Amino acid sequence: MAKIALITGITGQDGSYLSEFLLQKNYEVHGIIRRHSTNCKERISQLEENKNFFLHYGDISDSSNLANLIREINPDEVYNLAAQSHVGTSFEVPEYTAEVTGVGTLKLLEAIRQINPKIKFYQASTSELFGGIPETAPQNENTPFYPKSPYGCAKLYAFWITKNYRESYKIFACNGILFNHESPRRGEDFVTRKITVGIAKIIAGKQEKISLGNLNSKRDWGFAGDYVEGMWKILQHDTADDFVLATGETHTVREFLETAFNYVGIKIEWRGEGINEKGFCSKTGKILVDVNTKFFRPAEVDLLLGDPSKAEKILNWKRKISFENLVKMMVESDLKKFSQE
Ligand code: NAP
Ligand code: GDD
Repeated sequence: MAKIALITGITGQDGSYLSEFLLQKNYEVHGIIRRHSTNCKERISQLEENKNFFLHYGDISDSSNLANLIREINPDEVYNLAAQSHVGTSFEVPEYTAEVTGVGTLKLLEAIRQINPKIKFYQASTSELFGGIPETAPQNENTPFYPKSPYGCAKLYAFWITKNYRESYKIFACNGILFNHESPRRGEDFVTRKITVGIAKIIAGKQEKISLGNLNSKRDWGFAGDYVEGMWKILQHDTADDFVLATGETHTVREFLETAFNYVGIKIEWRGEGINEKGFCSKTGKILVDVNTKFFRPAEVDLLLGDPSKAEKILNWKRKISFENLVKMMVESDLKKFSQE
């Protein structure tokens, strides 16, 4: 019998890769989508003809809808990827972020507890939980949490309620504590994609420069396709547990940007300091990068660097795509996309 998976957040970056991965493993894949006034299915349109792929309207904040879907679909595994996932935006909509990213997780767990506690549950936890203590890097499953944003605080609640339902009700509920993972399908308001889209538009003559916030924060960036395999492995392990998935490498935003410009043959020269710093094309002298304070956050996470050794040892999971290949993949994809538009 084919296994049945239910994915919340199926229209997002990770939801699309996870759907493809599970369909290849012969799962029947169900996803919850919200009603939009425009098309929200860009990342999953290639799957809509698949006979094992089903979409249902719903919302992580609507508990009766979640209960109905759990009852109707009766999945073997639930992957909770739905979230207001943008850290910067969470400062603008903190209450909404708490409802969706935090309490939404409880609503789904409650539906599972009441309807079928044998369902396995994956929670999309995050390295943003580690947040503000750079001296604790590299961060692993035993590193103390110190979230620095309404998003991080909401995910902290979701992390603990997942662990609590595991301990209280013996539900197979697991946290994947995932460090940043990117791809050509990454939302355009996350810094990596903003950079690769910006470069492609500059090359196509559709944009002058890229305006960014903090150039010096460090992130542990991997490829989303590698990480969805890790999510699945977490639920196939014989006991429910929490795992860090990361590359074990960290780079500044500035390094990501320089590496990406390098692929199109442009060397960036930096001049000025702080909010007056600018990145110039070393050949033409044109300003290609500047700093705009509107992209600064009220509080920043300066350094994320994950230690994935528990997942490597217990799950035999390891990232495959290097930082350089990730940047290349994203730049190439956007060059193609924006030269055709
Ligand atoms: P994403 O591209 O922003 O996707 C978020 C998904 O959640 C979208 O499908 C969105 O649907 C859905 N969603 C938002 N609000 C919802 C609601 N009220 N009800 C139902 N669905 C809702 O995020 P991602 O990068 O794929 O990340 C997936 C999950 O992993 C998120 O929980 C994120 O916080 C977490 N995470 C991500 C990373 C990373 O680096 N990517 C790292 C650690 C953890 P719409 O299309 O309708 O907006
Ligand atoms: N988005 C954005 N836009 N970030 C910028 C910009 C800009 O113009 N300029 C500098 N940055 C900096 C941010 O301040 C942050 O330090 C870093 O670039 C990465 O920002 P994002 O790409 O927005 O990702 P994030 O690290 O805040 O959050 C992502 O990763 C988390 C895991 O660590 C999201 O995917 C979260 O959902 C996820 O939990």
